[in-house]
Amino acid sequence: MKILHIDASASAAETSHTRRLSSELVGRIKAHHADATVVYRDLVADQLPHVDMTIRHAWLPENADDPLLAKTRDRSKTLVEELKAADVLVIGSPMYNFTVPSTLKAWIDHVSIAGQTFGYTAEGPRGLLTGKAYLVLSSGGVYSQGPFAANDHLATYLEAILRFLGISDIETIRAEGIAYGAEQDQAAMQSASEQIGAVAAAV
Ligand SMILES: Cc1cc2nc3c(=O)[nH]c(=O)nc-3n(C[C@H](O)[C@H](O)[C@H](O)COP(=O)(O)O)c2cc1C
Repeated sequence: MKILHIDASASAAETSHTRRLSSELVGRIKAHHADATVVYRDLVADQLPHVDMTIRHAWLPENADDPLLAKTRDRSKTLVEELKAADVLVIGSPMYNFTVPSTLKAWIDHVSIAGQTFGYTAEGPRGLLTGKAYLVLSSGGVYSQGPFAANDHLATYLEAILRFLGISDIETIRAEGIAYGAEQDQAAMQSASEQIGAVAAAV
């Protein structure tokens, strides 16, 4: 089993909710699957650039042999190949301004490439990826239900883009309302941890 583990929190491992939970999930999956291997991408420590003209050019088939674009092309290839190879994708992401951190959006822009991770048919778009994804999310407020649910562009967006790319088997685990006080923070982490225990056993 190949796991691609991604973290996008700008907080350090000791304080980040999503880093702690995503690593707990990966650890538990590994405990159930001795053969599991992990590719880890810390999108904050090792940031990807925004997609610019050079990157767009590197993706074009007519530039496949341009030596000046080789480094950029190789990076794109590595990112896409490690995502394609993954049986299990684990994304740890906080909510930043109602959606994904820009570091995670940059990764999404790098791996969502027509002809590689999705294609177009006469019937419309078709995802080319398979496998399972776990979204380990955290937010200061509560968005899974209640008055702010319409502002959730984190879980809804990540689920939409992964489905678009072909990954329809998605489990979303949230530690939310962590800004509502220490008690709620602890309860949210406890509940997320329990969910992680349950889903990891079923992988
Ligand atoms: C730049 C920034 C933007 C944030 N935006 C939101 C937001 O829109 N809604 C919200 O509920 N919490 C927001 N938060 C709070 C985080 O989502 C929350 O603290 C979360 O637990 C962070 O996860 P982490 O501990 O893994 O970094 C924001 C935090 C930061 C640093």
